[in-house]
Amino acid sequence: MKKVIIESTIFVYKNKEALPEDVSSLMQKAIEARTKAYAPYSNFQVGAALLLDSGEIITGNNQENASYPSGLCAERTAIYYAGSQFPKAKIMKMALTAGSEKKESNEPVPPCGACRQAIAEYEIKQKSPIEIYFMGKTGKVVKSNSLANLLPLVFEKSML
Ligand code: THU
Repeated sequence: MKKVIIESTIFVYKNKEALPEDVSSLMQKAIEARTKAYAPYSNFQVGAALLLDSGEIITGNNQENASYPSGLCAERTAIYYAGSQFPKAKIMKMALTAGSEKKESNEPVPPCGACRQAIAEYEIKQKSPIEIYFMGKTGKVVKSNSLANLLPLVFEKSML
């Protein structure tokens, strides 16, 4: 038996203002998207903004449904739109912000497991890393240099 240690590195910025200018404005777009989320059941709003290699910015937010599992997370709303409208574009950066309408929390909110799997598909497809930045409603911002870093042991197409 061999022990294998899997390591991940993340970077933490003290707030949105401490981000590089282009990322800070991408995060601002994610914040604007978050406020337009349709989340009447959870009251938990999530916003995503993607920067494509063309310079185009795609935003999305969570879309809930009375049949709960029919809803969709912000990350997948945005990335599937990007994939459908700009199939050849590479996604360079993704900014995420999330928080409850009912309570204050400034803890960074990472993408859920299903969204990590969805984002991984595009990172593998485009053969280049997607920088992921995530925060709560305010406060610290976490950066990961790639999605792979957030989803070790990914299941992907080469295994099919
Ligand atoms: N949600 C997202 O939009 N992204 C995530 O990564 C985690 C969860 C949404 C789904 C649901 O509308 C609400 O947040 C509560 O789970």
